[in-house]
Amino acid sequence: MVAAIRSGCAMLTEPAEAAIIARAMQAGVRDPKRSRRSFEHIFEDFLPEVEFSGQRLLDIGPGQYDFGVVARERGATVVGIDRDPAVLELGRHKGFEIIDTDLREVTPGSLDDAYDGLFCKYSLNAFWFGADLRRLRDHINVFLDALRPHGWAWIAPWNGVPKKLNLNDAQLDAVLEAQIDAFRAAGFAFRDLSADDTRRYGVHGDTVNNALFIRGL
Ligand SMILES: C[S@@+](CC[C@H](N)C(=O)[O-])C[C@H]1O[C@@H](n2cnc3c(N)ncnc32)[C@H](O)[C@@H]1O
Repeated sequence: MVAAIRSGCAMLTEPAEAAIIARAMQAGVRDPKRSRRSFEHIFEDFLPEVEFSGQRLLDIGPGQYDFGVVARERGATVVGIDRDPAVLELGRHKGFEIIDTDLREVTPGSLDDAYDGLFCKYSLNAFWFGADLRRLRDHINVFLDALRPHGWAWIAPWNGVPKKLNLNDAQLDAVLEAQIDAFRAAGFAFRDLSADDTRRYGVHGDTVNNALFIRGL
């Protein structure tokens, strides 16, 4: 099982892929030799029971498609949603369906509503809408509405504070609480990951919390 995951998570060794991803907007996405261990850990710890065969999955901010490559090997169809031209080009090159959209701008009903699973590793952000909690909740629901009622989801947002945002600590806490409430209202469990777990799952950075939301896993 682990060996299969490792082969699926091979680095971007093809020169064409490395050349495409070298143009990515985010430095962490540009490195074709980036370690894939965190994805092995996520598959081992959270997804061993998932029957990928025949599932249609949405990878929110797919980066180098590490999740998609393994899920596809197991029989799933994976759609990536991103705005970075290099990430989108890599997706096309690898034969994934892609949606070219700024994640902050998705609107109700704009996504296909028949996904069996949602995967998000460090792309959504609780603070995109400042202190506007209703907008945050509506935005989360755009993604949750795209998930089938019995679908599964693994969502680890990047809850860092955007550079120009000027909120005090109480406001930051209120935003994080609203994010947690929105996921819980849709049947998700919330974990604030330990420092060890953030390293294990590749979600460590300068963030206000280390949220992981899961459902059906
Ligand atoms: C930190 S990377 C994570 C990539 C991948 N999930 C992983 O863990 O390796 C964030 C991803 O989200 C995308 N992303 C970030 N902000 C975005 C936005 N506002 N709209 C669309 N995509 C965005 C980036 O292009 C990138 O693919």
